[in-house]
Amino acid sequence: MGKRILTGIQPSGILHIGNYFGAMKASIELQNQNPGDTYLFIADLHSLTVNPKPDDLRMRVRRLALDYLACGLDPEKTAFFRQSDIRGVCELTWILNTITGLGLLERAHSYKDKIAKGFVPNNGLFSYPVLMAADILLYKSNAVPVGKDQKQHLEITRDIAIRFNQMYGDVFVIPEPIISESVAVIPGTDGQKMSKSYNNTIELFGEEKAIRKKIMSIPTDSTPLEAPKDPDKCNIFTLFKLFSDEGKIAALAAKYRAGNFGYGHAKQALFEAYMDYFAPMRRRREELEKEPGYIDEVLRKGAEKANAVAAVTMEEVCRAVGLR
Ligand code: TYM
Repeated sequence: MGKRILTGIQPSGILHIGNYFGAMKASIELQNQNPGDTYLFIADLHSLTVNPKPDDLRMRVRRLALDYLACGLDPEKTAFFRQSDIRGVCELTWILNTITGLGLLERAHSYKDKIAKGFVPNNGLFSYPVLMAADILLYKSNAVPVGKDQKQHLEITRDIAIRFNQMYGDVFVIPEPIISESVAVIPGTDGQKMSKSYNNTIELFGEEKAIRKKIMSIPTDSTPLEAPKDPDKCNIFTLFKLFSDEGKIAALAAKYRAGNFGYGHAKQALFEAYMDYFAPMRRRREELEKEPGYIDEVLRKGAEKANAVAAVTMEEVCRAVGLR
């Protein structure tokens, strides 16, 4: 038996290429390594921690599902489901809450960052990593592909699982994070981590014109057009590498170094590389949009499969802690 792979993504807004290269791409490719035992869910319960408008949340969940399917997620190989459709995930969160020290959660960077930004936290935001631990442990996942920003959450999951196993016996598998190696943190148009909250994203399925505008407005330094440039110090080049093979990367690097190649040219090359890369996925998305019932069916089947696995774990967990 291969490794069971699981990952989740919040329906927190329009998907960007940081999500794609940070996690989506890897999670879609993993389905081929272990078809039939890969799980991917839409973390709608996590999204509630920031109290989205109900209709927005519903719309984002559907859009996220559509985007994943367009990018090549095969629901026959990967169980694709909504977190909130799984019985047991909230119950397990509660049980894990009772063995999680406050100190462990107080040290979480993502929680501290939100507080530092003036966010008034609710209890759900504080115990966010415990719900995440429940997501992972419920399916006895072996491997969890995530971006680098989620690494600490994975460490918290491992700590919680180890503690549970010490207290109640070996129920949980200790999961391993898989951090995508090529570019662990995808930079945004300003060079910081690409994130919805920094307003520096390049959309995955945006309108062609808007994408072009976004790319053309990437800030650059004032090196004159004629001057040779160091590609490795340029954010445009870093982004270009995501979409290109070795040959194209070397060719663009040579142009940077030769001079007479301006940032405007580099941006044009980036835009073309982006469009080429995503063209097949954009076509597939248009087709899928014409059959909305398909998404419901995929999510329903995915939840059925995930619920079957979750029920077995919950039975073991409840027995172990003395609830049955
Ligand atoms: P979320 O929805 O913020 O992001 C989804 C995935 O995309 C990765 N990511 C990035 N990777 C590299 N560079 C970036 N700029 C970038 N932006 C986003 C994230 O690391 C993540 O892998 N808490 C999770 C969702 C979740 C989850 C889970 C994940 C809930 N339960 C269980 C795995 C297992 C989150 O908010 O991801």
